[in-house]
Amino acid sequence: MKSVAVVGASGAVGEVMVRLLAERNFPVGSIKFLASERSLGKSIEFGGEKHPLELLTAEAFEGVDIVLSSTPGSISKEFSPLAAKAGAVVVDNSSAFRMDPDVPLVVPEVNPHDVANHKGIIANPNCSTIQMVVALKPLHDAARIRRVVVSTYQSVSGAGQKGMHELWSQTEAHVSGKDVPSPSKFAHPIAFNCVPHIDDFLPNGYTKEEMKMVHETRKIMGDNTIDVCPTCVRVPVLHSHSESILVETERPVTPEMARELWSKAPGLTVLDDPGQLVYPLPASARDRDDVFVGRIRQDLHNPNALLFWCVGDNLRKGAALNAVQIAEELLKLDPVGA
Ligand SMILES: NC(=O)c1ccc[n+]([C@@H]2O[C@H](COP(=O)([O-])OP(=O)(O)OC[C@H]3O[C@@H](n4cnc5c(N)ncnc54)[C@H](OP(=O)(O)O)[C@@H]3O)[C@@H](O)[C@H]2O)c1
Repeated sequence: MKSVAVVGASGAVGEVMVRLLAERNFPVGSIKFLASERSLGKSIEFGGEKHPLELLTAEAFEGVDIVLSSTPGSISKEFSPLAAKAGAVVVDNSSAFRMDPDVPLVVPEVNPHDVANHKGIIANPNCSTIQMVVALKPLHDAARIRRVVVSTYQSVSGAGQKGMHELWSQTEAHVSGKDVPSPSKFAHPIAFNCVPHIDDFLPNGYTKEEMKMVHETRKIMGDNTIDVCPTCVRVPVLHSHSESILVETERPVTPEMARELWSKAPGLTVLDDPGQLVYPLPASARDRDDVFVGRIRQDLHNPNALLFWCVGDNLRKGAALNAVQIAEELLKLDPVGA
């Protein structure tokens, strides 16, 4: 059995992590839940018992084997190395360590072997990247991907509890004819709107969120020749990210081949019967483990290119589930009781 700490347990990702540890019967010997002073006095139910939320401190990691962390990057930067120093292995959801050459960046359906290279910290990728690489991996293995053009339709839960609250409060104000509260989490009102701006803009005209998709895809797939051209958009959806993807391959892939590859691949479900109105939807992907693909069609002009629509629950496969799956990979290296 393992001694586990969930850091950021009161957050949008943390809450799902706690549920998944129970649902997946993770071998928890002891558990603690850590957050900021804002959460002191609150508690979390796990294993039939109420556990108080404790303050995140360096001392809190003493005797802990596995840390599942989902705090803002600045907090992770400070505390994840302290947890590793105290002897724990940290699965970190923030962007703080993802491109660190000493830190594996893992999606278990794609590069589970990289877990073994950790030096105390393993990074969980960005939510939009995770669902995309789960779908890209079988195509890359079969036909070698050269270029990916992706537009995302990202839900507000990708911006945590405050993002969800902002959509709710603006929508309520709209429908009740009240003054719409000013945006704070997003750059513009998100209710009844789409905002092509996630994270800060960079000098090259892309956002940090877009560049995460470029760099993280290459690192996870272990291939620096894959070109990714992203546009990331926040949409007024509470849960699950959607992506419109065009993928160009070295060898031709027909929609039939792609369907066949995806139907055999782990973590993927094909929903592709447009005549029967069957295609992936963010509302139906909520609380589901798999990444869903559909609207699969050939490029009209290029036989070596395919288009599809890809949907995944950003809090689950895009964050908490992927992190727990990484922890399960760790158990394979160091079985319970060893
Ligand atoms: N949301 C997603 O879909 C998603 C996907 C992939 C990765 N991520 C990453 O996961 C991390 C958490 O995201 P989230 O969406 O869960 O955000 P969130 O809902 O805002 O939760 C943030 C968590 O961090 C804790 N925290 C904040 N400041 C702290 C401090 N000074 N000391 C200790 N704990 C502190 C919060 O505790 P309090 O409640 O006490 O403030 C809360 O538990 C972020 O790095 C994010 O980029 C998120």
